[in-house]
Amino acid sequence: MKILVVGSGGREHAIAQAFSRSDNATLYSVMANKNPGIFHLASKALISMETDIPRIVGFAKDVGAEYAFIGPEAPLEAGIVDDLERAGIACVGPDRAAARLETDKGFCREMMDRHHISGCPRYRICHSVDDAIAFIKDYDGDLAIKPIGLTGGKGVRIMGEQIDRTGALAYVKQLGGNVVLEERLVGEEFTLQAFVDGTRLVPMPLVQDHKRAFEGDIGPNTGGMGSYSMPDHMLPFVTPSDYAKALEIMRSIVAMMGRIGHPYKGILYGQFMNTAEGPKVIEFNARFGDPEAMDVLSLLVSDLTDIVTGITDGSLSSSCVTFDDAATVCKYIVPEGYPDAPNAGDPVTIGKTNGALLYYANVEDREGQLFTQTSRTLAFVGIGKTLKEAEKSAENAAISVNGRVRHRRDIGTSELLARRCDHMRDLR
Ligand code: AMP
Ligand code: GLY
Repeated sequence: MKILVVGSGGREHAIAQAFSRSDNATLYSVMANKNPGIFHLASKALISMETDIPRIVGFAKDVGAEYAFIGPEAPLEAGIVDDLERAGIACVGPDRAAARLETDKGFCREMMDRHHISGCPRYRICHSVDDAIAFIKDYDGDLAIKPIGLTGGKGVRIMGEQIDRTGALAYVKQLGGNVVLEERLVGEEFTLQAFVDGTRLVPMPLVQDHKRAFEGDIGPNTGGMGSYSMPDHMLPFVTPSDYAKALEIMRSIVAMMGRIGHPYKGILYGQFMNTAEGPKVIEFNARFGDPEAMDVLSLLVSDLTDIVTGITDGSLSSSCVTFDDAATVCKYIVPEGYPDAPNAGDPVTIGKTNGALLYYANVEDREGQLFTQTSRTLAFVGIGKTLKEAEKSAENAAISVNGRVRHRRDIGTSELLARRCDHMRDLR
């Protein structure tokens, strides 16, 4: 099977690595930056903007790709799946219309509302500064302020956390009034990712991501500093009933997309806030999470090519999806100053990683010497029978890295997990 993987981050390295475990896959890559891990696995790679659709379709046809796996959201928004499918290439990823679940936050909320899908916070879609200001002034409580389009997870501001009411008014003005204003949800976040074939959905292990730059969840939002998952594929602050509700919400979304004539296939990513009243939807993404892809794909026992066939021909079944019953901890190494003023162009060297998996991200390989770029550099995934073992493995690998880089030491530690559980207990 000839497969084109689009994207150049840690997520796409994990996707490429999972394919490379199959006897059945020949890999090709299109990436904006030359990811050394993906480059090594691919038979041929094109370095190109990931939204240059005609160029990507041309490359896919030249190499004879039969399938494409789309990693990031930007090409989905640009309609890559529509064009690849027109060229006869089957895709893991929704077409442009179905990708609106992620690319248009207003669409997502309106659809949840109209189709009575539970877990939708109170919200207001605004298209003018006056409307947004009037709503904020009238609203009794805190709000999340979200630009309507894609922002790489960095455009959301939370009242009561990052800004006050005056800051909120200034922020909506800065955004020209094109915002979704949402009830601020309080709780613990978790990620539920699933493979979807248009009608059926097969869930993956739950993961918790860490958006904030610094230990103790402080500092600016990032693309994600790391994540973890547990051996039972659940999280200790998510009850079986919370899980069942979250899964039901995801199934309702897939059913709704079918009903409105935009069947959803690919990876559906649900980001939930587990609140005192159960799981509420923060957002849906039309792709794997980064870092969350690295946790789940490192555990995938099944052949990813079988899953791809199931997704693209509508025959997906849970019997072709098995994950190892182990814990994972993923830690991203990022340049000092990331995300606000990242220190790019510095050499980094990796020491002894002792069994932790290494995924490259935004890093340049110049004749065997690695250099940081402006985004997340590389990630380690530790796998263990327990979370503790997995954390130790990832942390030991992370501290072996030399250079002007940093990582979050607290991800996956028992202290952090205990804090999450206490927080949930207090809320309930
Ligand atoms: P997003 O770009 O939608 O993933 O949001 C980035 C981060 O903002 C999320 O990971 C949450 O921590 C936070 N967030 C988004 N929406 C809300 C909300 N309605 N209430 C509280 N926090 C939120
Ligand atoms: N980890 C969050 C995201 O990929 O959007």
